Amino acid sequence: MTQRIALLGGGQLARMSAYAAYRLGYEAGIIARPTDDSPALLIATERFVGDWSSPELLDAVAAYADVVLLENEFIAPDILRYLEATGKPRVTPSSRTIALVQDKFFQKTALAQAGLPVPRFAAVASPEETLAISRQFGLPLVLKCRTNGYDGYGNELIRGAADIAPAFEKLLKRGSQLMVEEFVPFTKELAVMAARNESGEEVIYPVVETIQHAHVCHTTLAPAAVSETTAARVATLAKRTLEAIEGIGIFGIELFLLNDGEALINEIAPRPHNSGHYTIEACETSQFENHIRAGLNLPLGSPRMRSPVAVMVNLLGGFDAPARPTGLEAALRVPGVTVHLYGKKASRPGRKMGHVTALGDNLVETRERALRAARAISI
Ligand SMILES: Nc1ncnc2c1ncn2[C@@H]1O[C@H](COP(=O)(O)OP(=O)(O)OP(=O)(O)O)[C@@H](O)[C@H]1O
Ligand SMILES: [Mg+2]
Repeated sequence: MTQRIALLGGGQLARMSAYAAYRLGYEAGIIARPTDDSPALLIATERFVGDWSSPELLDAVAAYADVVLLENEFIAPDILRYLEATGKPRVTPSSRTIALVQDKFFQKTALAQAGLPVPRFAAVASPEETLAISRQFGLPLVLKCRTNGYDGYGNELIRGAADIAPAFEKLLKRGSQLMVEEFVPFTKELAVMAARNESGEEVIYPVVETIQHAHVCHTTLAPAAVSETTAARVATLAKRTLEAIEGIGIFGIELFLLNDGEALINEIAPRPHNSGHYTIEACETSQFENHIRAGLNLPLGSPRMRSPVAVMVNLLGGFDAPARPTGLEAALRVPGVTVHLYGKKASRPGRKMGHVTALGDNLVETRERALRAARAISI
């Protein structure tokens, strides 16, 4: 039977999930906001555009969809509860998991309670409380919005007591409660994708290294150059994380690698993740296909890599202007590279406009090719 999938969110993650749905013969409805410059709407089978809290819109989604999947976690859990209460579409992940994960303080509390390693953290309601915590944890600290943070918006580094008040004032404007964490002197940032379906089948992808520039993911190296012990340890942490949050669906888990080979969990994304884009070309089953499969409780596909290494580089916007990609031909001449352009209409500095993935036999040479292709393109 044709399954109809509705994706909450109209960005590139929804677009790539829709491609995966189409390949399996399914339909993809996209739920977007009227103001969205939505690359997924361009390829949707069905469009649901409007206020997401409107019962009319949600009833139409429920009537259409067999399953509702997310492309981002910035959604009021009440909206998911409303859809769940209709009894029609399966909602993956559940409103319960999203309510837990979308608040970084609740998320870290759940991980810590499950005995998983996380940086020391505390909820803070005032600069005075933050100062008191700085005496306990030491400096630097990272002050974070508990909700609605992405690409580093919502984080402020606190180097000294004088930074606390301005950081507090700046982040409170974002309308979220705040928390603090100890600053982790990581040697690398790692990430791992993990999927689980309702039948309890689980797959854990290879651990990768992510390199951020100005808090935005720039490059992913797959697999990460870490010891087998570290890779196995991260895979175990990923499995235990899914259990701790009762996660059904696909999840990206970000970690900090310490110089003793141990890893701390930074955060969980309850959806496909930028660090998993390499899986489209490099793995037997992409993160997007397993997103769809997990949502429909289908057998999950193998996360095994088809290529010894893969390197993904994001294509970020350079200017505030209508998007005009140039350099595609030069990029397409680089061997072993796949180019993805998301079709966003407006470019902005740092906006994710596309990505390239290079496959190869060794990280140094493959990274060089990925960078060569990425540098050829400007958007
Ligand atoms: N406690 C910490 N110690 C050291 N560095 C940190 C810490 N927390 C965050 N960072 C740095 O800031 C980056 C962004 O932080 P975080 O993942 O919390 O933010 P985000 O905005 O929710 O995420 P994303 O960039 O994944 O959208 C991290 O990838 C890491 O480089
Ligand atoms: Mg992050």
